[in-house]
Amino acid sequence: MSDDRLIVALDVPNALAGLNLVEQLGDDVSFYKIGLGMLTGGGLALANELKQEQGKKIFLDMKLFDIGATVESAVRGLSQFDLDFLTVHGDPYVVRAAQEGKGGTDLKILAVTILTSLDRADLNAALIKDGAIQDLVLERAANAFDAGADGIIASPQEAALIRALPEANGKLIVTPGVRPAGAALGDQKRVATPAQAIADGVDHIVVGRPVWQAENPKAAAQAILAELG
Ligand code: C5P
Repeated sequence: MSDDRLIVALDVPNALAGLNLVEQLGDDVSFYKIGLGMLTGGGLALANELKQEQGKKIFLDMKLFDIGATVESAVRGLSQFDLDFLTVHGDPYVVRAAQEGKGGTDLKILAVTILTSLDRADLNAALIKDGAIQDLVLERAANAFDAGADGIIASPQEAALIRALPEANGKLIVTPGVRPAGAALGDQKRVATPAQAIADGVDHIVVGRPVWQAENPKAAAQAILAELG
C-alpha cells in the first residue's frame, strides 16, 4: 500500500496533464491536491475521476471564504464529490458553515490561518489587529479548531507550534513548502525537509514542483517517500 502522508499538488494546467502525471506516478502516490488553478481546466472532473475510477484520495484546495450561507451551500455541493480534504479560510463562522455543509460525510475541513504570502504590512492594509504574524496564526488556528475544523494548513515554521496547542489534539496538520534535501526552493522561502515536517507532528506533506517538474516524477516521489521513513 502506498504511503498517503505524501500529497502531490497537481499544479499542472489542465485535467489531461494531471491524468498524465498520475499515470506516471502509478501506485507510489495515492493522494493528490487539486487547486483553484485547475478549476477551469477540468479540476472537479479530474477529482471525480481520480477518486471514482482510480481510488485515489483527493484534497480540493479551494480556500473558500464568503458569507456563512454561501459557504455552507458550496460545501454541501462539493461533498457530493466524495472528496477527502477541502480548505476554507479559518474564520470561525466560515469553519462552522463548512461543517454544516458537509453534513454526515467524511470530508475533512482544513482551515487556512494567514496566507504565508502576506506580511505585516499586508495585514495592516487589511486592518488586521497588531501583533506578530506567528502569534496571530496560532490564535486563528486555536479558534478554527474550536469552531470544528478537522485540521489546519500550516507552514513548516508553524507546524510544531500548532501541534503543541491543546486544541490540536486529534486534529490534522497538513504542510506545504516541503523540499527534499538538496531540492530547488522555487519561490518557497521557508521550507522543511519531509523528515523534519513529520518530526514536527505533521500528518501530511504537500509537494508540487519537486515532483511534477522533475525529469523523472516517479523517482522524485519515491525519494520523498524514502525520506519520510
Ligand atoms: O510546488 P510546491 O511544492 O511549492 O507546491 C506547494 C503547493 O502548496 C502549491 O499548490 C501551493 O499553492 C500550495 N501552498 C504553498 N504554500 C502555502 C499554501 C499553499 O505552497 N502557504
